[in-house]
Amino acid sequence: KKPAGAPAPELARPVRKVGVVGAGLMAGQLALVFAQRLNVPVIMTDVDRARVDRGVGHVHGQVDTLVAKGKLPAGQGEALKSLVTGSVSKDVYADADLVIEAVFEEMGVKKAVLAEVEAVVTPECILATNTSSLSVTEMASGLEHPERLVGFHFFNPVAVMPLVEIVRGPATTDPVLATAFATARGLGKTAVLVQDAAAFVVNRILLRMMGEVQHSFDQGTEATVADHALDPMALPMTPFTLLSMVGIPVAQHVTESLNTAFGDERFPVSKNLQSLIDAGITSLWAKDEDGREVIPAETRAVL
Ligand code: 3HC
Repeated sequence: KKPAGAPAPELARPVRKVGVVGAGLMAGQLALVFAQRLNVPVIMTDVDRARVDRGVGHVHGQVDTLVAKGKLPAGQGEALKSLVTGSVSKDVYADADLVIEAVFEEMGVKKAVLAEVEAVVTPECILATNTSSLSVTEMASGLEHPERLVGFHFFNPVAVMPLVEIVRGPATTDPVLATAFATARGLGKTAVLVQDAAAFVVNRILLRMMGEVQHSFDQGTEATVADHALDPMALPMTPFTLLSMVGIPVAQHVTESLNTAFGDERFPVSKNLQSLIDAGITSLWAKDEDGREVIPAETRAVL
């Protein structure tokens, strides 16, 4: 069944080569899933060789883990690894069909990266942004051909989370949108078309809940109590565990976008989390010798 708002599937263009801009956590997850599910070459780029090598190395390591767990035959693992390569030059995107950016969640950075990619790609190449909270409209305004940009928002862990939010920019054409839907289907994802509003739909709802947990914590509720209060609702992981998986700085960034759009009442920015970020701490919890969740003394010291 055609998803609501999706153009005719036959408008979709073939995707035979993919670019992933960025070599961080989400970028690596995207590269692996695109290569594995679409069986196409995926090239990761970043600003320096060390980052590129680390990113590609991480993806190859993930493939090794899949092989070690018996989820992938060794031969297929090697083939999959050879599909994921890296470069420091965007010139490698000259014959790409789809380039998705997963760089730092900052409008200026995203615009600069997209402009750089646009300068080397073919007129048919589709540009996608994995932004979790920023305006696709604003991002498109920096492009020579805004009609080729589409929002393509995946969730962490990309391999497992079934949903993808697709965002139509002000000029996005039907073939571009149809390609995004077809690609999502090829990846085995359920795609939904969402409005280009701050943090789209899922994160807006999720961060409202997370925001309340963080607010209780800021106001003095014991972290364990705030974090486990919703256990009877059988969430797949507690709010602070999810925060640690997504990365506290990334989550705080999304909250800040929502705070700018909707104000302190609905999306307060947590002071405790900011203190952790300022101290370079990315996870609230550590395990003690009995395997219990504890806040380490050095973390408590900055709260
Ligand atoms: N990468 C690849 N596969 C993974 C994985 C990962 N990081 N984590 C888990 N898996 C796989 C496991 O291998 C397992 O596969 P199998 O069934 O074939 O063996 C399967 O997923 C289930 O994993 P587990 O049994 O180990 O663990 P759980 O049942 O606890 O599920 C979870 C793990 C799917 C991560 C679950 O805890 C969950 O859904 N958590 C919530 C995640 C969430 O809400 N993500 C959205 C975050 S917001 C976001 O990303 C937006 C961004 O813009 C900020």
